[in-house]
Amino acid sequence: MEESVNFVKGYGKVNPSDDETTAVPCQSPSPKRRKTVAAVITLGLFAIIVGSIVGAAEVHHRRTKSPEPQSSSVKAVASIKAVCAVTQHPESCFTDVSTIDSGNFFDPEVIFNFTLRLAINELTNISSLPKTLISKSHDLRTGSALRDCATLFDDALSQLSRSVEAMRVGPVGGEKLLTEEKVADMKTWISAAMTDQETCVDGLEEMGSTAVDEVKSRMQRSNEYMSNSLAILANIETILDQFGLRLH
Ligand SMILES: *[C@@H]1O[C@H](CO)[C@@H](O)[C@H](O)[C@H]1NC(C)=O
Ligand SMILES: *[C@@H]1O[C@H](CO)[C@@H](O)[C@H](O)[C@H]1NC(C)=O
Repeated sequence: MEESVNFVKGYGKVNPSDDETTAVPCQSPSPKRRKTVAAVITLGLFAIIVGSIVGAAEVHHRRTKSPEPQSSSVKAVASIKAVCAVTQHPESCFTDVSTIDSGNFFDPEVIFNFTLRLAINELTNISSLPKTLISKSHDLRTGSALRDCATLFDDALSQLSRSVEAMRVGPVGGEKLLTEEKVADMKTWISAAMTDQETCVDGLEEMGSTAVDEVKSRMQRSNEYMSNSLAILANIETILDQFGLRLH
């Protein structure tokens, strides 16, 4: 799991070292400079070797058809980009998925699974927000709207948990990661979770609560993540088609 992240980072680092080693011979180096040059070349070579080892391990680990570590990285980037392209926030979707600890960059179902994980992590993180705000609030009307929010946040979290569970299939038994039925269920659950958040904001606005701005801003990321997951599900057949896959 770790190696995939290292691999991507390592790959990014190889090029700058290449630039340095090719740029240096243009000058006539002093002995001190030569030492530095040697160090830079050694470092560059080291980076390349480590990069190749990690890359090779990666390729082996992934059962990928491509023998080239470089092209497998390019392929991973292309895969994530293709999946994120259908979302409303393709750039941040790409950045977020690329930073997460990934098991398989090449499978759109796994990439979707990551967006789901991002959403549930973020929703878990903000789930205590209404309760925290209740303890700070002295306004009865705000308090009552916030109690509704607490219930709605709990519901949103359980809706997302159902989706996460649906994506948790064992290695044996041959259960499919995504089926038409699962996609339809998850669309319903994720939409319900998004509606929960909206209903919370509506309630706070109705009560003229001062907490509304804070709640809105803290919900922004979870909203974005859920909207990404939902967009991927809505376009899943087109996406799978691009990867030569089909929904079961
Ligand atoms: C999906 O993510 C969950 C964690 O959120 C993980 O337990 C599960 O193994 C993942 N499934 C796949 C196929 O990546
Ligand atoms: C949870 O939210 C807080 C405040 O927004 C943030 O600083 C922190 O990094 C978040 N933690 C995770 C795991 O996302």
